[in-house]
Amino acid sequence: MKTQFGPQKILFPMPVSLVVTGTIDKANIVTIAWVSLLTSKPPTLGISVGTRGFSGKEILKNGHFTVNIASADIMVEADFCGITSGKNVDKFEATGFTKLPSKHIDSPIIKECPLNIECKLTGSTIVGQTNHFIGEILQVHMDTDKLKDISDPGSYIPEAMNPLIYMGGAREYRRLGDKIGDAYSIGKSLNKK
Ligand SMILES: Cc1cc2nc3c(=O)[nH]c(=O)nc-3n(C[C@H](O)[C@H](O)[C@H](O)COP(=O)(O)O)c2cc1C
Repeated sequence: MKTQFGPQKILFPMPVSLVVTGTIDKANIVTIAWVSLLTSKPPTLGISVGTRGFSGKEILKNGHFTVNIASADIMVEADFCGITSGKNVDKFEATGFTKLPSKHIDSPIIKECPLNIECKLTGSTIVGQTNHFIGEILQVHMDTDKLKDISDPGSYIPEAMNPLIYMGGAREYRRLGDKIGDAYSIGKSLNKK
């Protein structure tokens, strides 16, 4: 049996990302759970940012942003950045997060996040009251001590990355569970012999 609800904005799980725009001297952080990879060549990602908040206008003005994936260790700070506005709060000062320079753009990355992605704004559309921004990925930074092989970004240790997970609709944070299989592989067991 299924219970039906009609159109709802509900999806889970989602990564908690901290999107930074501005410059190293004047940067703002906004918590964004609506984030997804979009294309592989060139690599792009999409973020959905409300038109009424501070960050949407800033991203449009600056033309670049960084996406910083939060770990469970910074849950309180990540939530804070989602309930306060850069209009009246310096979120770097309030959270104590450390700004590090990006390689290609003016917006800084957050040192305390294990994965940081530099993006150039390459597209934007408004749907209802939400900006859908497309960012071309220019550079990726990962904590070196969380990689098994520093030449392979896919060699990260999931437990060390410790991503903060948001359960949309339920409004809860969770942490990562156990590994249960190898992707692109485990399904082969159903191949007819
Ligand atoms: C867990 C969490 C996820 C959020 N995800 C989004 C999102 O995907 N898009 C969005 O526009 N706002 C999202 N928000 C709300 C913004 O972070 C919030 O409106 C913030 O105060 C805006 O900050 P700003 O005014 O500095 O831009 C989220 C908040 C939380 C706590």
